[in-house]
Amino acid sequence: MLIDRAKQWLNPSRRSDVPPFMVMDVMAAAARIEAAGGRVVHMEVGQPVASAPATAIAAAQAALVSGRVGYTAALGIPSLRVRIARHYAEVYGVALDPERVVVTTGSSGGFILAFLALFDPGDRVAMASPGYPPYRHILTALGCEPVLIETGEETRWAITPQALLEAHRAKPLKGLILASPANPTGTMMTAAALRAVVNAAEGEGIRVISDEIYHGLDYAFPAATAAGCSEQALVINSFSKYFCMTGWRVGWMVAAADMVRPIERLQQNLAISVPTLSQVAAEAAFDGREEMEAVKHGYEANRQILLGGLPRAGFEHILPVDGAFYLYADVSRFGGDSLDFAKRMLEEAGVAATPGVDFDPVHGKDFIRFCYAGSADEMYEAVERISDWLRRG
Ligand SMILES: Cc1ncc(COP(=O)(O)O)c(C=O)c1O
Repeated sequence: MLIDRAKQWLNPSRRSDVPPFMVMDVMAAAARIEAAGGRVVHMEVGQPVASAPATAIAAAQAALVSGRVGYTAALGIPSLRVRIARHYAEVYGVALDPERVVVTTGSSGGFILAFLALFDPGDRVAMASPGYPPYRHILTALGCEPVLIETGEETRWAITPQALLEAHRAKPLKGLILASPANPTGTMMTAAALRAVVNAAEGEGIRVISDEIYHGLDYAFPAATAAGCSEQALVINSFSKYFCMTGWRVGWMVAAADMVRPIERLQQNLAISVPTLSQVAAEAAFDGREEMEAVKHGYEANRQILLGGLPRAGFEHILPVDGAFYLYADVSRFGGDSLDFAKRMLEEAGVAATPGVDFDPVHGKDFIRFCYAGSADEMYEAVERISDWLRRG
């Protein structure tokens, strides 16, 4: 009896009860098909198939050979912070004090630091729906309240000042997460749209976090950084996507000057520092931009293959394919929901994609996300397989 009662204290915490990432289930189903000898075109996971820049790999190898790999400063290797600050001058024409740059364990590590540094339990933080699920799941685990703002075609799938202020008036917000290019939609905000919503938020004392992880992968127009609109906005970025370094787990933040010390204290306690070899590689990655631009041109070609082929296969409604490497398509006309559609497309056509329910609890049942970070041959194969499958009915 006593033991039974004691056992109930051994349960996982309520805050750990966050939903799983559905894409992992699709990956597992695809792996089962492959284990049984089947062929699958993978378009479900949002990661590049290319390797890190050769410059990054060489730098990590040299650092490894030199022997000792110790901790670094909690905020990151100073020369890497300086190099990241230079990147803002080079790419956006924004002068940045390297003291405002914090190196993080991927952008995922950046979110935890940012949310802990900026918000208290109970704080309400707005974000677009559809959107990247971990924003809301991390906030929930930290005791904050995610507030989903529905977006649609008329606003290019982005949060507008009006929508933000409406949500804020209904119940005050403490924060706002923006992402451009966005996941899963692949849509982007123009520089003017970004500036307008940052100004509207900050005018109401709402802290902006701008997830710029897909910067560099912009096709419709150049992506603008929130660091160019405001010194208060907290910018999050990563080496995972443009630099093809997902497994290296290294990213960065640009924080307001007065937020750096609180973030440093958190980082010291939570992680001590970011993996040293990854930081060394990251600094050298900036010298590999030519190689990464070639990878980006590959995505652009893939995007054209899908934009040509999927409408012919019957996809009538595809969101603007502005950036990142995602194409978000309406599948409601094919009957059933997107989870069912993704399952059937995997089993019957051998193409794995992610159902929108991961990204949007309300309308996600109508959408599916294709990742086009694979090879051109895979894109042609996917279009052919999907067309044949839909034709067969
Ligand atoms: C929008 C967005 N933000 C952040 C991340 C996390 O990336 P990482 O932790 O590898 O930097 C991802 C990964 O898919 C993403 O799509």
